[in-house]
Amino acid sequence: MSRNIATSRAHPNIAFIKYWGNQDDALRIPVNDSLSMNLDDLFTQTTVEWRTDLKQHTLLLNGEEQIGQPLERVSRHLTMLQKHLDLNIYAYVESANNFPMGAGIASSASSFAALTLAAVRAATAMLSERELTVLARLGSGSASRSIPEGFVEWYAGGSHETSYAESFAPASHWDIVDIIAVVSSSHKAVGSTEGHRSALTSVLQSSRVADAASRVAICKNAVLERDFTSFAEIVERDSNLMHAIMMTSNPPLFYWLPASVAVMEAVRTARQEGLSVCYTMDAGPNVHCICLRHDKDNVQSLLRSVSGITDIRVAGVGGGAKIVKSGE
Ligand code: DP6
Repeated sequence: MSRNIATSRAHPNIAFIKYWGNQDDALRIPVNDSLSMNLDDLFTQTTVEWRTDLKQHTLLLNGEEQIGQPLERVSRHLTMLQKHLDLNIYAYVESANNFPMGAGIASSASSFAALTLAAVRAATAMLSERELTVLARLGSGSASRSIPEGFVEWYAGGSHETSYAESFAPASHWDIVDIIAVVSSSHKAVGSTEGHRSALTSVLQSSRVADAASRVAICKNAVLERDFTSFAEIVERDSNLMHAIMMTSNPPLFYWLPASVAVMEAVRTARQEGLSVCYTMDAGPNVHCICLRHDKDNVQSLLRSVSGITDIRVAGVGGGAKIVKSGE
């Protein structure tokens, strides 16, 4: 007899055009569309088993049973999935990242994408990719972009059903690489969820949002045309805009460290000197340096010359979330 069990894998993603601020915080319906690429080599692997003998959801993260906040966030998502899948039993979840939690790489996107896919498959439900992105979004907004493959667009939409993500180019479309300059691996003081809630307190947010559709169009076109010059310019501008919102929100959020600024400066200078590289930063101090693969070694040696970098991780464009085992 087959068991209600499935194992999935999902990659984290890095946004080119950022998600910052929601129309609806509870449903994670963002104020603007966003674009990203999945990061191959890095992944979260999650096994979900729906079990009749459990009295509550159970979560093992990298081998350790969780209590408190991590369990609460995952349990909320599983309870939503229980309702959606019409189940009255609880889930036993084992999840692990192949990248260290302290490496400063956000894991909520890959975690909630993998969790959603495994939970749905373990319940033997057949959902479309679009429906999976909608459900993953409720766990973490950026998780919706870790379901489809390669280069992904998340449409903000105006309701639960219309806020979904889809691939706009496969991973093989453009051989670009994300070289992550880790400058701090300590846990961030203010997480994204809290940041989204305060975005509107910045007087600059309405201007950022008003211009977002145009940035999405420019960036998408640059990816489709493999035009690195236009791509670099718009990706850096979008990251700077988001950080301008963060810094001018109430309370203000400063994620940049001196080493982050040094990396951004080094990247800008290197591009002027002919390297195909640009930077983008999420809600943390680490700098994602995106480059054409043939400039990878040069970018890595450039980063080795900047002081304050504690680690460097490299990832190409990754595929979508997938099932690796089910119903054993
Ligand atoms: C700065 O998806 O982590 O990385 O929906 O509250 O889980 P929640 O937020 P999250 O926000 C990501 C913010 C960002 C930009 C981006 O990835 O688009």
